[in-house]
Formats: sequence, structure tokens, C-alpha cells
Amino acid sequence: MASPLALTLPNPEATHALGLRLGQRLEANSVLLLEGDLGTGKTSLSQGIGAGLGIDRREIASPTFTLIAEYFDGRLPFYHLDLYRLEAEGANQLHLETYWEGEEVEPGIMAIEWPERLTYLPERYLHIQLKHRGSEREATIQAIGNGWDLAALCTV
Ligand SMILES: Nc1ncnc2c1ncn2[C@@H]1O[C@H](COP(=O)(O)OP(=O)(O)OP(=O)(O)O)[C@@H](O)[C@H]1O
Ligand SMILES: [Mg+2]
Repeated sequence: MASPLALTLPNPEATHALGLRLGQRLEANSVLLLEGDLGTGKTSLSQGIGAGLGIDRREIASPTFTLIAEYFDGRLPFYHLDLYRLEAEGANQLHLETYWEGEEVEPGIMAIEWPERLTYLPERYLHIQLKHRGSEREATIQAIGNGWDLAALCTV
């Protein structure tokens, strides 16, 4: 397994900028698991990804109550999930594999907040762990599966 990439995100703009780069560079069929305590910046990062895909940032709210929000006005479809309110049985019933198999659903970028709720994972994904570091945040990015170039995706 390739070694993880650790980035310090000193302010909300840095979180947004990381998302922006990902949104500009990720290829279709990318799944991102955004793990981290309350308020570590998962939604901020998702908004950056949306902006990088060319989706109007103001549209991207946290789908805490809707679970899944889908955007089709960017470079690629963007599927933004927040599983905070989901029970484990509920995760199975969502059939998220239809997204990453990409047969019924148009392949795009999928960002999942609270992926700890999932009982199954795709074979290939980016795992992004966000942590509080005082008033800053630290992101640890791990690529799972083949064909990722973390430095090219994440660094300026
Ligand atoms: N790198 C950063 N440094 C400091 N503050 C940040 C950073 N990134 C984001 N924030 C701020 O942290 C707050 C929480 O961000 P956000 O809502 O994105 O977190 P979240 O992980 O989605 O939270 P939740 O678990 O409630 O969904 C926001 O005010 C945001 O501006
Ligand atoms: Mg959130």
C-alpha cells in the first residue's frame, strides 16, 4: 500500500483549495471517504470538490437530512453523501454499489461524509481523514486500490 499523504490545512480556505484541486483533477469513478469528527471540514472539502467540478458552490449544502445530493451541472456528476443519521442496516439498503459499479448511475465523483456507517466499501477509493489540530486541520490521505497518484492529485 502506498504511503499516506499528510497535509496541514491552516484555515477553511486551505480545505476548500484541496477540494478544488481534487474536483479539477479526479477522474470519473472516484470514491472519496471523508472521515473525521464533527466540524473537521468534511462539508467544506466537499464544497471545494464541487467548485473544482464547476458546480455553483452556493448550491452545495450538507445532505445530512437527504443523505444523497446529486449534481449534474459540472465537469462530471457529483454525488455528495452524508451518512451521519444512518443506521448500519440503512447503509445496506442504500445500495451504494450501484454508484461505484457505474452501470445504472453515470460515473462521477462520490464524496461520502461519515463513511464509518458503511458496511461495505468499493475496491478502489481515497480515504481522507480530517483531524482538529488546534484551530487548524490535518488531512491524511490514503489511496486504496490501483492507479492513484496522490501527489499529482493533492499538491499544488
Ligand atoms: N482547515 C481549516 N481550519 C480551520 N477551520 C476550518 C478548516 N476547514 C474547515 N473549517 C471550518 O470548520 C467548520 C466546520 O466545517 P464543516 O461543516 O465542513 O465540517 P464537517 O466535518 O462537515 O462537520 P459535520 O461533522 O458537522 O458534518 C466550518 O466553520 C469551516 O469553515
Ligand atoms: Mg458535514
